[in-house]
Amino acid sequence: MRNTPKGSIVVKGGLIVDQLGERSSDVVVEEGHIVGVGPDLSGDQVLEAKGCVVAPGFVDLHTHLRQPGMEEAETIESGGWAAVRGGFSAVVAMPNTDPPIDCAAVVQEVLALGAKAPCEVYSSGAITVGRKGEQLAPIAEMAGLGVRLFTDDGNGIQSAGLMRRAMEYAAGLGVLLAQHCEVDSLAEGGHMHEGEWSSQLGIPGVPAEAEELMVMRDIALSRLTGAPVHFQHLSTRGSVAMVRAARQGGVPVTAEAATHHFTLTDEACAGYDPVFKVNPPLRPADDVAAVREGLADGALDAIATDHAPHSLDSKERPFDEAPPGMLGLETALALALSELNLSIQQVVGLLSWQPAAIAGLQNTHGTPIAVGAPANLCVFDPEEIWTVEPDELASRACNTPYAGRQVQGRVRHTLVGGNPVVVNQQMRQ
Ligand code: DOR
Repeated sequence: MRNTPKGSIVVKGGLIVDQLGERSSDVVVEEGHIVGVGPDLSGDQVLEAKGCVVAPGFVDLHTHLRQPGMEEAETIESGGWAAVRGGFSAVVAMPNTDPPIDCAAVVQEVLALGAKAPCEVYSSGAITVGRKGEQLAPIAEMAGLGVRLFTDDGNGIQSAGLMRRAMEYAAGLGVLLAQHCEVDSLAEGGHMHEGEWSSQLGIPGVPAEAEELMVMRDIALSRLTGAPVHFQHLSTRGSVAMVRAARQGGVPVTAEAATHHFTLTDEACAGYDPVFKVNPPLRPADDVAAVREGLADGALDAIATDHAPHSLDSKERPFDEAPPGMLGLETALALALSELNLSIQQVVGLLSWQPAAIAGLQNTHGTPIAVGAPANLCVFDPEEIWTVEPDELASRACNTPYAGRQVQGRVRHTLVGGNPVVVNQQMRQ
């Protein structure tokens, strides 16, 4: 899929926004790298960027690509197209596949399929065998294949002792553990946030404390072991506050927020539509406000999508039987630009160089736009207003909770390794 195109490409007339700031400039790309940055440049192919931002490609720390085993919902290829249409040049694939990504053979399979995808696909690895939380997975073997991030995502590690051992082991190998924070004994049987709305709707709830107790525990374990921990999809005021305080105290933790946790509240579940069922669940407005504050003040490092495709069938079941999860890759940028009161540079940082650094990809993704850098770029129009139409998404699934929503900001072109995989919003096969 990713053949380096012949000849040069000029991205013309855009405003570069990267970690160095903003500047109006053309960008020329050739053989996978940026070869020119300046005024009035030319190339064999022109990508028009007037009125657009030219940013480093985005990096999603949290993508469910469903392959192997759940191809009716997504494949690495279809998810890859959803990624590049959303401006992502790299994604980290979550391990809750079937079989799970918990050994070298499955990592190899994901990487082989990923090599043919339109974006860069990095595999995560499970922390425990089968994501069962009982026995450590062969982390070193997977790390040997380049896996940098380990998680049992979909499940949290329930045993503090096992998590401590995993942290010590991971720190020794120089890889990162990421935690899905959820205490099972509190969350069991719950299908939405436990609060006013769950009472009114008669749907069993999951209290905020199910997440917060694990955040608290893992901060303590990070302090104890000195090992870094990354918190996935944080959703409550308490979690954000604890991470903020821990960081101020020098504990090496990082954290992400998923787009739905700063754009939707638990009230969305009022119609019993499973498209709004997700784990951690949608929370009340005060938690949503806290997630936004955390993204603004640096308590949270990254916006992740938690892109979780599910088949139409499964999402048409009753609320308590449907699987949790919602699509995210193709709407993340627009939601961040539309809903967060942040500068474009802050939004791009949360989507690009900040997650790239957490994933250990800072040399290839999210790099400043300068001569010699790899040509992983996202060009977007920050003003374009569009309506989210599930049928028009590249994902194989259509479980977006934003159907019919008007949003602002749209990806126009995406380049991955110099290859223009999205041009004028169209996928280039
Ligand atoms: O809502 C969710 N969906 N949360 C998870 O942790 C897993 C994910 C999935 O795989 O569908």
